[in-house]
Amino acid sequence: TYVVTDKCIRCKFMDCVAVCPVDCFYEGENMLVINPDECIDCGVCEPECPAAAIVADTDPTAARWLELNDRLSRVWPNIAEKKEPPEDAEAWMDVDGKFETAFS
Ligand code: SF4
Ligand code: F3S
Repeated sequence: TYVVTDKCIRCKFMDCVAVCPVDCFYEGENMLVINPDECIDCGVCEPECPAAAIVADTDPTAARWLELNDRLSRVWPNIAEKKEPPEDAEAWMDVDGKFETAFS
């Protein structure tokens, strides 16, 4: 499976949603997550994300986010169509520690 990492937080560009063939993205207020059971591992979304927020679960950084994607994709609503990103999305690219500020 592929997973969405903290780089998505407050960027939420949603280009990933536009290309996913199985609509396995789920939407929270500040970020999206992927349902690991539904993702078919096609990899199409990964290069589409302007924030480089999507990684394969084999990536060394993925473990923490896999747990989060798995858990939250079961409670957040499905998103199948791209919407307007937040107005300040660009400003949040490459900001460190976004998970801590968004979820605390
Ligand atoms: Fe969807 Fe493919 Fe990305 Fe999985 S890897 S979330 S199936 S686009
Ligand atoms: Fe997030 Fe990137 Fe998708 S910022 S919403 S993972 S295109």
